[in-house]
Amino acid sequence: MKVLVIILLLLCCVSPIKAVTVESCPMATGSLLQTEVKKTVTLTCKTDESIDPSNHELQWFRNGARVNLAEENRLSRSSLCVQSVTKEDNGVVFTCQLKGDASVNRSIEFYVHYPPDLNDTKEVFVEEKSAVVLSCDVRANPPVALVWKRDGEVLDLTTGSYVTTNNGITAELSIPKAERDVHQGTYICEVTSSKYGMASRTFTVTVEDRVLKFPLGPTLAGVVVVLCTIVLALISRRDKIIKCCKRN
Ligand SMILES: *[C@@H]1O[C@H](CO)[C@@H](O)[C@H](O)[C@H]1NC(C)=O
Ligand SMILES: *[C@@H]1O[C@H](CO)[C@@H](O)[C@H](O)[C@H]1NC(C)=O
Repeated sequence: MKVLVIILLLLCCVSPIKAVTVESCPMATGSLLQTEVKKTVTLTCKTDESIDPSNHELQWFRNGARVNLAEENRLSRSSLCVQSVTKEDNGVVFTCQLKGDASVNRSIEFYVHYPPDLNDTKEVFVEEKSAVVLSCDVRANPPVALVWKRDGEVLDLTTGSYVTTNNGITAELSIPKAERDVHQGTYICEVTSSKYGMASRTFTVTVEDRVLKFPLGPTLAGVVVVLCTIVLALISRRDKIIKCCKRN
């Protein structure tokens, strides 16, 4: 008898678990959806039968910001189409939730593959003894391996006082004090992606003679002003000087 009462109590108190489900194309692994730039992704959110049909309006959020949906795309079933995925969609979270109960929700995170955007040549001119920085955009997913080359060979970083940095977004090769004999040449920043293969940017670095940067105009003007001042000063003092001489 006691057992029966407990079972009855349990039955009336435990309400069915409400849920929304999200289906996607391409299919997600858990809550992670892998895709590539320029691809199209569709997400479809559905309410399950336990949700009261009078309160089954759905909402979509992209990184917490509401996505506007057509009215007919909100009840029981709601689809989102992300056309032409971009790099910026990497890491973005799409969430579908029940309008009347935010705790009933489901999220999908985008993991976007994209190649490095490198494929060009730059001409670089630097004055003798000046600094120059060669930089490459190395953003890619999956991340790329980078190597600096000079005239076809892997650059020897132990000579030539080169400084390199790479924060996964920009890779830089700095030459603090360019010398023609040492630094002039063709440099390549070559990146290798496990997914997209090789890409590179070529820099042709020309070390130019130092241009005489003596500001001739202003200097001349300055000299003239100084000369005039001296002459005027001498003229105005001449009387006194003469007087002094006479007195002595
Ligand atoms: C989504 O649901 C989970 C689990 O119920 C909850 O912890 C979370 O706060 C919900 N998210 C929002 C935005 O309400
Ligand atoms: C790089 O550029 C060349 C010509 O500008 C083009 O033919 C080639 O397809 C490009 N490669 C990539 C990977 O974008």
